[in-house]
Amino acid sequence: MTAFGLPPAGAPRLAGKVAIVTGAGSRGAGIGNGRAAAMLFAREGARVLLVDRDESPARDTLALIEAEGGEAAVYTADVTVSEDCAAMVAYTLERWGRLDILHNNVGIGSRGSVVEESEEEWERVQRVNVTSMMLTSKHAIPAMMRSGGGAIVNVSSISALRPRGLTAYSTSKGAVIALTRAMAVDHARDGVRVNCIAPGPVFTPMVASEGMSDELRERRRLASPLQVEGTGWDIGYAALFLASDEARYITGVVLVVDGGTTIVGPSR
Ligand SMILES: NC(=O)c1ccc[n+]([C@@H]2O[C@H](COP(=O)([O-])OP(=O)(O)OC[C@H]3O[C@@H](n4cnc5c(N)ncnc54)[C@H](O)[C@@H]3O)[C@@H](O)[C@H]2O)c1
Repeated sequence: MTAFGLPPAGAPRLAGKVAIVTGAGSRGAGIGNGRAAAMLFAREGARVLLVDRDESPARDTLALIEAEGGEAAVYTADVTVSEDCAAMVAYTLERWGRLDILHNNVGIGSRGSVVEESEEEWERVQRVNVTSMMLTSKHAIPAMMRSGGGAIVNVSSISALRPRGLTAYSTSKGAVIALTRAMAVDHARDGVRVNCIAPGPVFTPMVASEGMSDELRERRRLASPLQVEGTGWDIGYAALFLASDEARYITGVVLVVDGGTTIVGPSR
C-alpha cells in the first residue's frame, strides 16, 4: 500500500478486496450492467460473490470470470428478503473473511403513470428497486466496518432526473439517490462511502429482452450528444472507479453515465 492507501503502481485496482454484486446474472445472453461490473471487479483482483435470484445467469457470469482467471462464487438469493441478505453477507465472511464492496445493481422496470399503474405493481417496484438496497446495506455495513471500511455503489437511472412515462420506476430511482446521500452521511464516520450511478439508455440484455426495434435503438443512440451507444461496460467501469480506493474522497455523489443525454433538450 502507498501512503494514500492505494495499491502500488501497476497493481490490480481492487487487489485484496471482497465484493458482493447483486443481480450479477443477466436477463439474457450478453453483458448486462451487473455482469459487467462483476467481471471488471474480478479482473481488478477482487473476489466476487455473484448474487442473483436465478442461479443459471449467475453461473454464466461465473464461467466468464473463471475463464479470465478470476475468483468468484455464485449465491442464490432474493434481495427483497432480509434473511437472504443476512445469509449472503454471512456466506461472504465465511468464505473470504471480509467484505469491502457492495454493488447494489438489482432493479426492475415499469411503465405507466400513477393513473395507469396498479397499486400492487407500484409496491413491487419500490420493494425490488429501493427496499432491497436498504436490506443489503443493513447487513453489509456492519461487516464492512469490521473489515476497516468499505464502498457501496447503488444503481439509479437518469429516469430519476428526466422522467418519461415510467413513473413507478422514476420514483424508485429517485429514492435510490436520496438513500445514497442519506447513507453517505450516516456511515462516513464508519469508513463506508456510498455513491450511485445514474445510467442513461445503455443497450443491455435487459433492454433487448423487452423487444427493442432497430429504429428505436438507433434513436436512443442519437439522443446523446456523443451519439455513442452505451453498454454494460460503461456502467461497470463507473462502478469499478467508485468501488475502488481511487474514489476514497468521494461519497454521496450521483455519477451520470449517459453520453450527455440529460444535458440536452428533447429535440435532439
Ligand atoms: N439498461 C438500461 O438502459 C438501464 C438504464 C438505467 C438503469 N438501469 C439499471 O441497471 C440495473 C440492471 O442492470 P442489468 O443490465 O444487470 O439488468 P438485468 O435485468 O439484465 O439483470 C439483473 C439481474 O437481477 C436479477 N434479479 C432481479 N430481481 C432480483 C432479486 N429480487 N433478487 C436477486 N436478483 C434479482 C435478475 O435475475 C437478473 O439476472 C437496474 O438497476 C436497472 O434499473 C439500466
